[in-house]
Amino acid sequence: NNSSKKHYPFYMEKEISEQPEVIEKTIRSRIKDGLPDFSADGVDDSIFTECENITVIACGTAMHAGLIGKHLIEKACAVPVNVYMASEYMYCDPIVSDKTLVICVSQSGETIDTLEALKYAKSKGAKTLSIVNVKGSSIAMTSDNVIYTNAGPEIAVASTKAYTTQVAVFYLITAKTALLRGCFNEDETKSFVNELEKIPQAVDDILQRKDEIHHLSQSLLTAEHTFMIGRGLDYPALLEASLKLKEISYIHSEAFASGELKHGTIALIIKKTPVIALLTQEKLMSKQISNIREVESRGATVISFVKDGLQTKDINPDFILPNLNDDFMAIPAVVAMQLLAYYVSADKGLDVDKPRNLAKVVTVE
Ligand code: G6P
Repeated sequence: NNSSKKHYPFYMEKEISEQPEVIEKTIRSRIKDGLPDFSADGVDDSIFTECENITVIACGTAMHAGLIGKHLIEKACAVPVNVYMASEYMYCDPIVSDKTLVICVSQSGETIDTLEALKYAKSKGAKTLSIVNVKGSSIAMTSDNVIYTNAGPEIAVASTKAYTTQVAVFYLITAKTALLRGCFNEDETKSFVNELEKIPQAVDDILQRKDEIHHLSQSLLTAEHTFMIGRGLDYPALLEASLKLKEISYIHSEAFASGELKHGTIALIIKKTPVIALLTQEKLMSKQISNIREVESRGATVISFVKDGLQTKDINPDFILPNLNDDFMAIPAVVAMQLLAYYVSADKGLDVDKPRNLAKVVTVE
């Protein structure tokens, strides 16, 4: 149905463009007086205080949202968080009890791997919360608690707005858990939520400059392999960026925690290998810059995405990301990378919305 794509050539571009609005919609109804509030979702606050550990279970892009969630929750709330690929979960003898909060993340709410893992966790007594986009879906119905992302229908196989709204929910869960557990006081919680509220504007800023990303994407059109390097929160953001590029452009891409690259895989960096470097974490800047030097000295062509304010004489950014607190950079960074993947795929003449061999919803284990 072409008409609902509006003027966009592909659903993916339309869905990328909707992100400021749908992130806003996802957070707006869950902020009361500047504080996170899930009462309209019927979520029982005790699930955040009574757990001793949290396990996030999901597949694909949704699992990558969980990896961001892990960083946020562990940093703010000092609760251990494990992230499992749903297809591996119940075969790993996971540590799960009534002191475990299991958070399932799923756009469709129908991914069978995630659904089966959820049922398994419930059978072991875990408290369950799901972050789901499709109302009334199986995962939503099976879970004790549900927080819906308000992303609206996502048609393109490669997930974009579902991911960013899932991550937005993780910020709210982090704020709520930190407040309830006494890790944040009310003022700290309000300032965390206030930073979250700046994300839609930051995403919009990137969308306004999408031509710059289109221009940068041209250097990837003929690439066979690419690497993405980042540290801290930038690493899980790049796992998602790399998946986007692989899914729709068919370029082999691997995301690396920059410091790990030297432990072997740097052998794959040769003259003109494109390396995408993400730099949004101030405390990791000097380390990340030295990792960039390592790949450059092997001949890599580095394309850098740098948070505004972190550019120095040592790093000349190819794209400047808007300036938010470092913990909130994952969403803007991934949106920039979604656009990069999109333009590579579209300019290669590929079917952006329906990449080969992939399905939007996978109902086989
Ligand atoms: C499929 C899709 C992925 C998606 C994954 C999880 O493999 O191709 O894009 O991330 O399923 O889907 P879900 O609906 O559970 O988020």
